Amino acid sequence: KYPGLALTPPMGWNSWNKFACNVSEDLIKQMADAMVASGMKEAGYTYINIDDCWHGDRDSLGFIHPDAKRFPSGMKALADYIHAKGLKLGVYSDAGSQTCGGRPGSRGYEFQDALTYASWGVDYLKYDWCNTEGLKAEGAYKTITAALKRAGRPVVLSICEWGNDQPWAWGQNVGHLWRTTGDIYNCFDCIEDHGTWKSFGVMQILDKQEGLRKYAGPGHWNDPDMLEIGNGALTPGEDRAHFTMWAMLAAPLIAGNDLRSMSAATREVLTNKAVIAISQDTMGVQGFRGVKKDSLEIWFRPLSKGEWAVCFLNRSKLPATVDYHWKQRPVKDPDFGYELNAAATGYTLYNVWTKKLQGSTAQTLHAVIPPRDVLVFRLQP
Ligand code: GLA
Repeated sequence: KYPGLALTPPMGWNSWNKFACNVSEDLIKQMADAMVASGMKEAGYTYINIDDCWHGDRDSLGFIHPDAKRFPSGMKALADYIHAKGLKLGVYSDAGSQTCGGRPGSRGYEFQDALTYASWGVDYLKYDWCNTEGLKAEGAYKTITAALKRAGRPVVLSICEWGNDQPWAWGQNVGHLWRTTGDIYNCFDCIEDHGTWKSFGVMQILDKQEGLRKYAGPGHWNDPDMLEIGNGALTPGEDRAHFTMWAMLAAPLIAGNDLRSMSAATREVLTNKAVIAISQDTMGVQGFRGVKKDSLEIWFRPLSKGEWAVCFLNRSKLPATVDYHWKQRPVKDPDFGYELNAAATGYTLYNVWTKKLQGSTAQTLHAVIPPRDVLVFRLQP
């Protein structure tokens, strides 16, 4: 794969969660404009990713073209527009014969498609796994990796295999991120049964990350799917919890809402610089669940310079009372050996949502966390 890319989890926007197949060059340009105007670019978001259904047909020589009605100016012009704003362009394809939305897949055209994307100026490729009968995942993804490398343009490769073939086990040198689960569903705590497949609420996706953190690091991330913040189903507290947990997981932060019309509250969540600083910590160590007691969980993420992020997550529909003795015993990172020892090192507590200092680890933390919300601190020695 291309080295030196996605050294922190990628940040951007993708069309699927809100717009599904309803994509066009006007929509994508407006989203790029809104990315800048809303302050999202300034907060670190870079990629504007077109998901499924941008495709038209292949021509007689096999080259893929965008849908001429939806993208009349062509992809090169769109990439130029996005690059002129200091942003980057992503597209979507599929390892199989057709995409999940029934558009032409890349199977048998991998090297040709990679060349086409490079000629357009594409910077990011999400590569899906529908209609792949007879293919082995690792080999299929290695083919597109080789094709992208041969095409000569740095492209972030997002492996969208849904976790069935354990992409974390082989993905590190193949792509820059890999989906760990089926699709996210726009709810906090539910499973949506579509008959032949299921999609998962924010908390169900979270539970499916168990055991995967040892595979993540700079340039190769677990991807628990894109954000549903601002898409209407989650409460403000649930939005905070969703955003914080994706930061704790060192997950890609790919917004999935309509950036043109988002509320001030949604924008404040998506552009919270203190949470983004946790997400983008250069050490790149994914957080872990250190405590689980009924529906209260405590998550820990080691950060560079000896700092820590600590998130108290209340999954319940009732308020949760927390009395936490920081010094009771050291917290040990089960995979990487970091240790949070508040008895040996005192830390101040910076609350990343109220943006205020809130005491230190010398005191017992006493707090009430509202239903389905989080209390999140950055611990500074
Ligand atoms: C799959 C992927 C989704 C989205 C759709 C598009 O379901 O997992 O993220 O890309 O396909 O059809």
